[in-house]
Amino acid sequence: MKKNKNFHASWSSRWTFILAAAGSAVGLGNIWKFPYIAGENGGGAFVIVYIFCIVIVALPIMVAEVTLGRMGKKSPVNTIRDLIQSSDAQKSFNIIGWMGVSAGLLILSYYAVIAGWALSYIEHMISGNFHNINAENAGLVFDNLLKDKNELIFWQSLFMLMTVIVVIFGINKGLGLAAQILMPLLFILLIGLLIFGYQQGDLAKAFSFLFGFNFESLSWKAVLVALGHAFFTLSIGMGAMMTYGVYMPEDSRVFSNVLMVGILDTLVALIAGLVIFSIVFVNPGIESSAGPGLMFVSLPVAFGNMLGGLIFGTIFFVLVTLAAWSSSISLIEPAIAYLIESRKCTRLVASLALGFIAWIFGLGSVFSFNIWAEEKIAGFNFFELIDFITANIMLPLSGLLVAILIGWKIKSKMVEDQLLADSPKLFSTWKWAIKFISPIAVIVVLVMGIYPRLA
Ligand code: PHE
Repeated sequence: MKKNKNFHASWSSRWTFILAAAGSAVGLGNIWKFPYIAGENGGGAFVIVYIFCIVIVALPIMVAEVTLGRMGKKSPVNTIRDLIQSSDAQKSFNIIGWMGVSAGLLILSYYAVIAGWALSYIEHMISGNFHNINAENAGLVFDNLLKDKNELIFWQSLFMLMTVIVVIFGINKGLGLAAQILMPLLFILLIGLLIFGYQQGDLAKAFSFLFGFNFESLSWKAVLVALGHAFFTLSIGMGAMMTYGVYMPEDSRVFSNVLMVGILDTLVALIAGLVIFSIVFVNPGIESSAGPGLMFVSLPVAFGNMLGGLIFGTIFFVLVTLAAWSSSISLIEPAIAYLIESRKCTRLVASLALGFIAWIFGLGSVFSFNIWAEEKIAGFNFFELIDFITANIMLPLSGLLVAILIGWKIKSKMVEDQLLADSPKLFSTWKWAIKFISPIAVIVVLVMGIYPRLA
């Protein structure tokens, strides 16, 4: 293929890529979603399957996505189209780009709602509402928030505005900078909370809950959720990593960068899980299967009852918001990059238009927690449906197509040019994983996880 001219700007350094990619990966998925889905799916076995999915399915696909971005140097839609043209791949692979862009906007729609909860908790922390609070009252505060749709819309809109403003400023001044400051801080605070969990909570029980081997309780649905979450948490299957790959400096090494992001992301999720469950297990008022409210009920109890807790609590929810922020920008960026390239749109117009579309969809998720709470399709409310379809179906499906495209369709020479020099050993292992292990695992899990729901 002729070498594409680089359409977009580049990250200012290798570290900016790692930080921005980690900023995209580490988000609500790690701190809010991972603990609650682990709780809903019985803990131990789920976590082990999830780690397995990360290592053998998601990381190879992440390498593939970043590499595709580096080869195509355009937004996912156009990168995939160019690569199809220069290989003998069928036109139907174009769906990767389109499905990715749509999945990103759909995820962003509810992501802003949940991030809005975190924003409102900053206010609660500052105003001292959680001082000496018990589990029951923490539950009440949360329920009252969910019931108030105007308040939810206010915070959701604020978060969406924050996202749009950063993307308007473009990749280095906006996305790169946000991630550089935030990631280390978040990590330090989580370690601090882990110490609190050890002193005041039941860390040992949290540990055996998360890492125990209770395989009897594992269902195919849980395996599907674990696989979907592996994609969600690493931001793959929707073009974010492809887009960030485009912005990666030419001389960076893909394998080591991706591995670093994977390790960071997993560590944050596991620590968040340990913190939350060590608190849950000493508070009989909180169920481990409490669902999306788990973090918002358990952490106020911890902060409200520790020395200086309200200050730490405020910092914590600020950091959660920032983590969500550096992820949300990567949910919208692939669509923006596409509009800029193909529709001769300015960054400003693209950002505003797409932010508005995601915001409108988000209202459906807002209402799922109040006026539409009883409206169900196939047992899911609107929020759960969008979450299930995006994370558990669209992301794995598009990851599967990425694996087939790079493993079987694109000329090996082109892929080797990108990756072989990094490390010949890693390259051959990766090649094997992307051709066989990742696709087969995704197919088996998708079929076994979805089939019983349709049958
Ligand atoms: N990885 C992010 C998280 O864990 C969510 C996300 C998914 C971001 C897909 C970008 C793309 O919160």
